[in-house]
Formats: sequence, structure tokens, C-alpha cells
Amino acid sequence: MRSPSSSLIAAVTKRLEGKVAIIIGGASGIGECTAKLFARYGAKVVIADVQDDLGKSVSEDATNSTGGTMSYVHCDVSKEQDVKNLIDVTMEKYGKLDTMFNNAGIFGDLDQSFLESKYENYRRVYDVNAIGSALGAKHAARVMIPAKKGSILFTASTTSVVAGGATSAYAMSKHAIVGLTKNLCVELGEYGIRVNCISPYGVVTPLVTNAFSMQASKAQDIINKSTNLKEAVLESKDIAEAAVYLGSDESKYVSGMNLIVDGGYSTTNPSFVTVMNNSI
Ligand SMILES: NC(=O)c1ccc[n+]([C@@H]2O[C@H](COP(=O)([O-])OP(=O)(O)OC[C@H]3O[C@@H](n4cnc5c(N)ncnc54)[C@H](O)[C@@H]3O)[C@@H](O)[C@H]2O)c1
Repeated sequence: MRSPSSSLIAAVTKRLEGKVAIIIGGASGIGECTAKLFARYGAKVVIADVQDDLGKSVSEDATNSTGGTMSYVHCDVSKEQDVKNLIDVTMEKYGKLDTMFNNAGIFGDLDQSFLESKYENYRRVYDVNAIGSALGAKHAARVMIPAKKGSILFTASTTSVVAGGATSAYAMSKHAIVGLTKNLCVELGEYGIRVNCISPYGVVTPLVTNAFSMQASKAQDIINKSTNLKEAVLESKDIAEAAVYLGSDESKYVSGMNLIVDGGYSTTNPSFVTVMNNSI
């Protein structure tokens, strides 16, 4: 007979057992880590991305290392037909969708001042980050509404609540995700669908190292020096754990929230004390 503690451990380790999840932007960084954690907790996972070779290898590795079930589907979130296909393939394979994590994101051009910024850059960043998220939510809702349940998640950013850390194009796109979260929380709430977003502070992923052409250690050092919470380092796994919580039944009454995972960075402004200390 299993002891109560072993049943508890089994319940915790398989807390997503029986669930089906799609993770967009799952070939790299936060999405890859989240996909692996969902699989480890027992979910059947479909990752979608535009990096096909990477996406396929992540799904094969994860299937082998977690003993879970993961597959890869090509999907450019800025193309509605790709998003529709992603949902249709998942429904054909598993017959349901419990969690839709709209996590794909790009920085766009970083070296443009506001006056030099170009329409094409705004268009591309908005198409992927904001409209891509809306398309993902729309096609997920299409199959979740008849089931009268589901969890739709987005990755926004601390840029959605604190200004000055990114380009205007990126900041606009991430504010849009918070607006989308709130509006869909109302519109889909009557069908039992929860809608939330997660806002990370800096996490060293290929997004960051490629954009700034920087070694991971140097990027980590810069982020660490700017954080509020010391003695801990924000990693993809921390965002993945937040997504697991919002995708699991443990958050069954949580909807419309922007879960900020930043160690308190966005609620602090130590500028005055820093200037004061440097002046005396
Ligand atoms: N890393 C950070 O510091 C940080 C902080 C706040 C928010 N975010 C957000 O987290 C999310 C994940 O970023 P990450 O840091 O893991 O970066 P990443 O580059 O490692 O992963 C993003 C993934 O999205 C995919 N992608 C890009 N365009 C796509 C498209 N059109 N269709 C489908 N997939 C596409 C990329 O191929 C990549 O695999 C993004 O939305 C990003 O804006 C990141």
C-alpha cells in the first residue's frame, strides 16, 4: 500500500496529468523550458515555432528525457492559417486543448531612436507579439468554448508595467497583451475559460544574447546588477513554474491577471537613494 506521502508526491509530480497544452515559441528559451516542465508534470505537449529543426530536436529530446509526450508543429503566429492549422492538428491528435501558451516574441530593431523608427519594424513586432497572441487565443477559444473550460496564457513583460527598458514598438506590443488579457477574461469568462499573462523581468535566453550580441554570462551580470531581489537569479524555469500554476487546476479561479515575475523590480524605484548615496 502506498503511504500518504508517496501519494502526495505522485500528485505533485503529475499535476498536469491528462491535460493537453500548446506552447508557441517552444523551440527556445522560456517556451522550451515551459514545454519540458509541462511534459514532466504529465501533460501532452505540442510545441510550435518557426525554428523547425530546433523545434523538432527539442520535442525529441524532451520525449526521451521526460518520458512525456511532445510533438512539434510549424507555426508562424503572424499567419492566421498557421495558427488555425496548429489548433486543428492538436485537436485531431488529442481531441481537446486545456492550455494555450502564446509565448512567441521578438524584440525587433533595437538600434533605432524613436525619430528614426520605421513602420516596418512596428508592423513586424506588433504582428508577432500582439496580433500573433490574439490569433492564438482566438483559435484556442474556438475549441475551448464548446468544452466550457481552458486556460489561455500569454507572455507579456515587465515592459508592460515599467517604462524605459525597451523600444516603443516592443513596449506597445506588450501593453497590448495586457489589454488583450483583460478583455478576453471578460469575453471568455462566461465559457469557463481563464485568461492570464505572465510578465518576466530579464531572463538570459537567445532572445537577449542574440539581440545584444553578448555572452550569456555578461548579460546575466548586467541583469543581476539591476535587479531588486538579490541572492536569486531569474531563470526560464521560474516563468515555466508560473505557467504551470496558471495552466493547472490549482489556479482554477484566477483570471485576468498579469503575473509579474520580477523579484519586485517593477514596484521599486531606487533612483533617488542611488543619486543621494553617490552625492554624499
Ligand atoms: N528573455 C527575457 O528577458 C524576456 C523578458 C520578458 C518577456 N520575454 C518574452 O518571453 C517570450 C519568450 O522569449 P524568450 O526570451 O524565451 O526568447 P527566445 O528567442 O529564446 O524564444 C522565443 C521563441 O519564439 C519564436 N518565434 C519568434 N517569432 C515567431 C513567430 N512569428 N511564430 C512562432 N514563433 C516565433 C522564436 O523562434 C523562439 O523560439 C517572448 O514573448 C519575449 O518577448 C522575454
